[in-house]
Amino acid sequence: MSAKTSEIKLKFLEALQTISNAEELEKIRVEYIGKKGYVTELLKEMKNLSNEEKKTFGQEVNILKNEVNDKISEKREELRLKEIELENSRMPEFDISMPPKLKRGSYHPITLVQRQCEEVFRSMGFAIEDYSEIVTDYECFEALNIPKNHPARDMQDTYYLENGQLLKSHTSAAQNAIYKKYKDALINDGKPIKAIFPGRCFRNEATDACHENTFFQMEGVMVDKNISISNLIFFMKTMLSEVFQKDIKVRLRPGFFPFVEPGFELDISCLICGGDGCPSCKHSGWLELCPCGMIHPEVLRMGGIDPEEYTGFAFGLGLTRLAMMKYGVKDIRDLNSGSLKNLAQFTDDK
Ligand code: DAH
Repeated sequence: MSAKTSEIKLKFLEALQTISNAEELEKIRVEYIGKKGYVTELLKEMKNLSNEEKKTFGQEVNILKNEVNDKISEKREELRLKEIELENSRMPEFDISMPPKLKRGSYHPITLVQRQCEEVFRSMGFAIEDYSEIVTDYECFEALNIPKNHPARDMQDTYYLENGQLLKSHTSAAQNAIYKKYKDALINDGKPIKAIFPGRCFRNEATDACHENTFFQMEGVMVDKNISISNLIFFMKTMLSEVFQKDIKVRLRPGFFPFVEPGFELDISCLICGGDGCPSCKHSGWLELCPCGMIHPEVLRMGGIDPEEYTGFAFGLGLTRLAMMKYGVKDIRDLNSGSLKNLAQFTDDK
């Protein structure tokens, strides 16, 4: 081996010893066998040699080039293994028999009351329906007897989408679809329509202790022959006493909603202050919990049901309010806070 070749080889082997990562290795590779590397440069010197010398020198340089290549590959593999080892040493030891370090999660207070209400209504023969959060203007307003420019629209600061649809501002938006879904069974088989449909609603509200822009309601409807206000009051009272597991003071006041006639506000005595008045009940001692009423004939008609033959009631239970009452949540904003520490304290069951 020529002096020059062995000098380069020696220098390369020395340099290889000092390598500790892939970047350094790549640098050395370029330095030695890259386009302008030491070994590649050696080949360029061949043009000054005789044919005989060219042959031996060429062979020598090629052997060196292969050696350098092999050493680099070896080193690359060595570094890769080291990397894996290091990665493994960083991972916490996993022992399947160890008890979990994380606390078990808990259900959101609204989920809990929603499930309780569902259970109560299911046991009374109601179907539980789900409905989209994005609805049409027709579903949210027109089919509920709230035509364009009706002042009742002002009450529901609605988020409109660019395509003309909107974020449902109340669960009543599903009423029309529910009537249409069940009307044939009602008309042909005499099966009463009994359905509840819980859902998330959105309104562009200024938030405070009792207002949020995102909240939950649970709508319920029952349609059959001879349904009256007494049926409505019975179902409401049964549901509330089941959920609170005690007798709840309620009051019924007249209330106006274009899709019911007559319409009512069902209030419950504020459970946070016991009726004395607090920010949660706007210092009145009462909380509007469940507006309700007898379904307006026009609304039934738009749902494909003859109001001469059938009557029904509808209610829009404030699920968020109910959760606040049940779990003593004083500020509605806590519910959407995402603070697990806050939310977990309200829930008793997991
Ligand atoms: N959708 C009404 C609202 O959110 C509440 C409501 C009132 C629902 C009366 C009803 C009802 O079903 O009968 O403002």
